[in-house]
Amino acid sequence: MMISPEQYIDGLEWRYACKKFDPEARLEQPTWHALAESLRLSPSSLGLQLWKFVVVTNRELKARLREVSWNQSQVEDCSHYVVLCSRRDATRRDVDRYLAQIEFTRRPSAEKLASSADFYTSYVEALAPEKMHAWLDCQVYIAVGFLLSAAAALRVDSCTIGGMDRAKYDEILGLDGTPYRSVVGVALGYRAKDDAYAREAKVRFPAGEVIDIRA
Ligand SMILES: Cc1cc2nc3c(=O)[nH]c(=O)nc-3n(C[C@H](O)[C@H](O)[C@H](O)COP(=O)(O)O)c2cc1C
Repeated sequence: MMISPEQYIDGLEWRYACKKFDPEARLEQPTWHALAESLRLSPSSLGLQLWKFVVVTNRELKARLREVSWNQSQVEDCSHYVVLCSRRDATRRDVDRYLAQIEFTRRPSAEKLASSADFYTSYVEALAPEKMHAWLDCQVYIAVGFLLSAAAALRVDSCTIGGMDRAKYDEILGLDGTPYRSVVGVALGYRAKDDAYAREAKVRFPAGEVIDIRA
């Protein structure tokens, strides 16, 4: 089954940054599974997947995260709250872990593997710390895009939560002292019937202003 271009656009028009979730509405397991797969299958620079997705369904934990997310109700009332985390750093060991996965999955020639190893390692090692952090954060935002798009296609409501205290998240989620740090959250679930934002028109610049075609 393939959805039509119109059906895909319908989903994007339907979605909005949900401000009020129905606290009783929960995602069904197959729906959640598809959303989790949208995260796992997201592309990343060099394919390194330097991320982890912490999924909070525990009500008390969501309430604690809400307190350090500008008190935004979506964090507590959603069904699944995904905290997208990136590695604090990318090292030779991360490259080796990925290469081992490539070897296991694709069985490349030793020569091909060695040349990938050289390229990936030199790329990662050339990144200055500041650039490295920006690069690592960017990877996570790609996964945010995939997740939001998948949610729209499945008619699951979502809200990205950038208004949060990353240091406090790390503390609450026990990420301090681990190789991962929180970057951004995405609340998933179903809109409350009285969320007035659902009826607001989308504010977007016309296609002619943002899509620049050079045929
Ligand atoms: C990185 C990022 C962070 C965001 N943080 C928040 C947030 O903390 N709270 C919120 O209600 N919406 C947040 N949003 C939602 C945006 O405000 C919203 O997507 C934008 O205004 C466009 O509206 P729409 O998504 O309803 O089309 C965030 C969106 C992005 C992409």
